[in-house]
Amino acid sequence: MTGKQMRQWKSMCKGLVLGTLLTSCMILLYCLSTPQAHITLPEVPVPYSCAHRSSQLHSKSTINSSQRNSGQNCAAKVDIMFMKTHKTASSTFLNILFRFGEKHQLKFAFPDSRNDFFYPSFFERSQVKDYKPGMCFNIICNHMRFNEPELAKLLPMDTSYITILRDPAELFESSFHYFGRLVPFTWKIPGDDKLTEFLLDPSKYFDPDSYNSFYLKNLLFFDFGQDNTLELDDPRVEEGIKLITDRFQLVMLVEHFEESLILLKDALCWEMDDLLFFKLNARKGSTVSKLTPELRARSLEWNAIDWKLYQHFNQTFWKKVDTYGRQRMAEDVAELRQRNKEMASICIEGGHAVEAGNIQETDMQPWQPIGEKSIMGYNLKKNLDKAHQKLCRKMLMPEIQYLSELGVNLWITKLWGHVRDIINW
Ligand SMILES: *[C@@H]1O[C@H](CO)[C@@H](O)[C@H](O)[C@H]1NC(C)=O
Ligand SMILES: *[C@@H]1O[C@H](CO)[C@@H](O)[C@H](O)[C@H]1NC(C)=O
Repeated sequence: MTGKQMRQWKSMCKGLVLGTLLTSCMILLYCLSTPQAHITLPEVPVPYSCAHRSSQLHSKSTINSSQRNSGQNCAAKVDIMFMKTHKTASSTFLNILFRFGEKHQLKFAFPDSRNDFFYPSFFERSQVKDYKPGMCFNIICNHMRFNEPELAKLLPMDTSYITILRDPAELFESSFHYFGRLVPFTWKIPGDDKLTEFLLDPSKYFDPDSYNSFYLKNLLFFDFGQDNTLELDDPRVEEGIKLITDRFQLVMLVEHFEESLILLKDALCWEMDDLLFFKLNARKGSTVSKLTPELRARSLEWNAIDWKLYQHFNQTFWKKVDTYGRQRMAEDVAELRQRNKEMASICIEGGHAVEAGNIQETDMQPWQPIGEKSIMGYNLKKNLDKAHQKLCRKMLMPEIQYLSELGVNLWITKLWGHVRDIINW
């Protein structure tokens, strides 16, 4: 047996072990946690708003920014549905939302026992931790498969729906890297460069009925609750896009993250302070795409629905920027970048992200994809002054740890982490 065959054989074995484990885990989880999902909950009308007075009174603090808001004083919007799509910098955005929620003492609708709403099954109200009909929630932001009617029965009527998209070629590459091993049909793709091999002839390997196959085709469209295997000219594609257009007040773009945040600040009447962030959950060496122009084209062709979706919302995005004012946008983005840079020099040891092995505190270790340690994290600077210590810590804290701190019980997620540690995945 050559070394290569050996490696392939080993990777197949790992795949099998993992597959078996995962399947068993899933069955166990469903047994443990779905019975309540089938109870029909009584329908109680949702309130108009879940903002309390204190946060309504919070308004723009400087005359300058309110002048910019055409002279209108506004209150920060606190009722928010953030549709967290996969592999779209959404961990970074969640950190922003968590801090905003804490600042205004908002109530989050969190999942129970794990960090998503039983993705990939459709969202249901009953999956919300401690949910009872008629309760008031301000923010929902964990991974879910979007299900509008069910969300409308949970969230107040004034909720702002926000989401974020990413260039589908990049997203596909990232998803292939992160989730590929969880999709059994990838195990039989030969060679070391499975991504290229797959894109050269996707239909040879792709099986829509295979476990987890949605991770590798039109994942965005799937996350929004739509059918990711439709033909591009199917009328349901247009309908799906229209549904998202009608429901979401703001669709941000990963490629223009800062501009997106400024649009968000404008739409929700937030402050610049609310937008400060460090890039979380970034993959090592991910700033430059490894896709050649040919592979990129193939990837877009393969994810044609997501490409159409992305192009559509790219158009609306830049129309919004035009309305906001290009010059004004450029100034605000420059200000935000400057503020983030200042924060980085205050909070981060060495000023930048480091590989997992060089992160000293376990609290700061990010969650890793199956089979490797490629996600970067940070070391908090030592000897920080009191004023910054809390903020810096929160800004750098990976999602899972922050969720725990906010009181989410993550026993399934944690158990899974321990299993992986034991089999040294
Ligand atoms: C607006 O901000 C500038 C500095 O950014 C300041 O010089 C000016 O006085 C402010 N205007 C008002 C009306 O507060
Ligand atoms: C997004 O829109 C801008 C402005 O209309 C355009 O220049 C750019 O090429 C578009 N990008 C994509 C990926 O469609």
